[in-house]
Amino acid sequence: MPWSPLLTTRSLTSTKRINCSLTSALEFLHDPKAIIDLNPLVIGREPHPNDPNLYTIKDRMKVLGRYVEFDYTAKFTFREDGCETEVRAPGGTTLKSRWTASEVEGGVEVREEVTATTYFFLMPMTISGLKAPHDVLRERLAAKLEGRSVDQAGTTITNKSEAGDHSGFLSLKFMFCISALALVFSVVLRFGSPMSIPMLLLLLFLAACISVYLSARKSRDPYGTFHVSLNRPLEEPRSIPNTEWLNMGYWKDTDEFPKACEALALKLIKAARCQQGGHVLDVGHGSGDSLLLHLRHPSVPRPSCLTGITSLRAHYLRSCERVRQTQKEITDIDHAPEVHLFAGDAVYHPSDDPHHPLSPTSPTKPYTTILALDCAYHFNNRHRFLQQSFHHLASGGRIALADICFASTGTTIAKFVRYLIGDLGVVPKENVITVQQYYRQMVDLGYVEIEVEDISKDVFPSFTRFLSSRGVVWGVFARVIGLLQIGGARFVIITGKKP
Ligand SMILES: C[S@@+](CC[C@H](N)C(=O)[O-])C[C@H]1O[C@@H](n2cnc3c(N)ncnc32)[C@H](O)[C@@H]1O
Repeated sequence: MPWSPLLTTRSLTSTKRINCSLTSALEFLHDPKAIIDLNPLVIGREPHPNDPNLYTIKDRMKVLGRYVEFDYTAKFTFREDGCETEVRAPGGTTLKSRWTASEVEGGVEVREEVTATTYFFLMPMTISGLKAPHDVLRERLAAKLEGRSVDQAGTTITNKSEAGDHSGFLSLKFMFCISALALVFSVVLRFGSPMSIPMLLLLLFLAACISVYLSARKSRDPYGTFHVSLNRPLEEPRSIPNTEWLNMGYWKDTDEFPKACEALALKLIKAARCQQGGHVLDVGHGSGDSLLLHLRHPSVPRPSCLTGITSLRAHYLRSCERVRQTQKEITDIDHAPEVHLFAGDAVYHPSDDPHHPLSPTSPTKPYTTILALDCAYHFNNRHRFLQQSFHHLASGGRIALADICFASTGTTIAKFVRYLIGDLGVVPKENVITVQQYYRQMVDLGYVEIEVEDISKDVFPSFTRFLSSRGVVWGVFARVIGLLQIGGARFVIITGKKP
């Protein structure tokens, strides 16, 4: 790349301690195909006809809410203690990496130093685009070398980790979009609607811009760990909570957030009639509390196999850690479930890894239960998810969703709010449907014994009250949930069986 005053350089270093021999680590670092395949963004690779160490690689990633595919070249040079790669990516970006392996007590330390050179305005995107897949890459490298399942170490992570574009009613994107809607409505209601059409359009345009901007920032995981604070008792602001729930809760018999969240999860599990020794798929599990219920809660039947998929990498990694920790504490090893976790979109797309839990070629045995706890309204789209789930359920197996749909009747304002929720992409348009339409979809897909329980009154009011008690920012969010209710939102537990 010719020198330019606009070019800038940054370096990142990371290390990973791996429980393996130095020989196997070096063997791995001398195999370009193996290294390329660890990268979760890669969807294709082709060696140069005259140079086996030069590859053209195709990546797929999400930029500004859209998937883009791009090619770049990577040249590998092998060293005694590892390897070096030089990547020439689009936009005049060059990445020089040096991988080394050295013996340390109890294994090997693999070190990666990446130096990125690019135009200064591309640097933030380059760095954030590097970090997520490389975190996964290291996890997967460790899994391979330690003989663990790569699934548990981040299969297909980043391509799809950002596929959860609508990553929760607690997401910043959601808050900003709905806040903008709230603003529009408060202006309309206050001035009796003298607002001009251009003004309304301007406000909506602003909301859309904020939404796109926040999507672009998605790789910084806005969820992060901020929701963990909700799990902390108000009177112990510095305590480390034992739970990391992130749902709206079932508040019938409690006024504590973690208990309400657990109650909602247990209600869903009960509605799903989980079986002892079954195979459970838990989608949108966030930081993993619902997974832990299957591993150790006394009232939940122990499955023989537990599979999970959630969209955000940070949540996936946290879940892996918490599951591993819990598995260590399980004394009844003979009945400890096998666990497979994935980061990615719960809905399978043809370009996804064939090991995706809902892939048509997935080698996993059919699920006896599929659970979606407070997340399916985000899926793009839910109908496809229900369809894929039907194919992967065992005969007699059930799907259970704690989900949001809408009342079939409503005022003009309610209908307008609903229209905007879909139109602004707060949730995919196709998911903004009534309870009856939801039921109909399940029937048409072949589900039987469909049951719908409307638990809105035990969810929304207490959840908004709880949020309001947590300070100004959460208070704003509580108003946002109130606005959803103006749109006629219903919180339901819906279940169906595969005949
Ligand atoms: C409201 S949170 C619920 C989390 C968890 N079930 C709980 O109860 O704590 C919604 C979760 O769904 C995940 N999610 C959103 N869209 C998704 C998608 N398309 N595929 C998989 N997970 C998704 C989010 O990242 C988030 O963890």
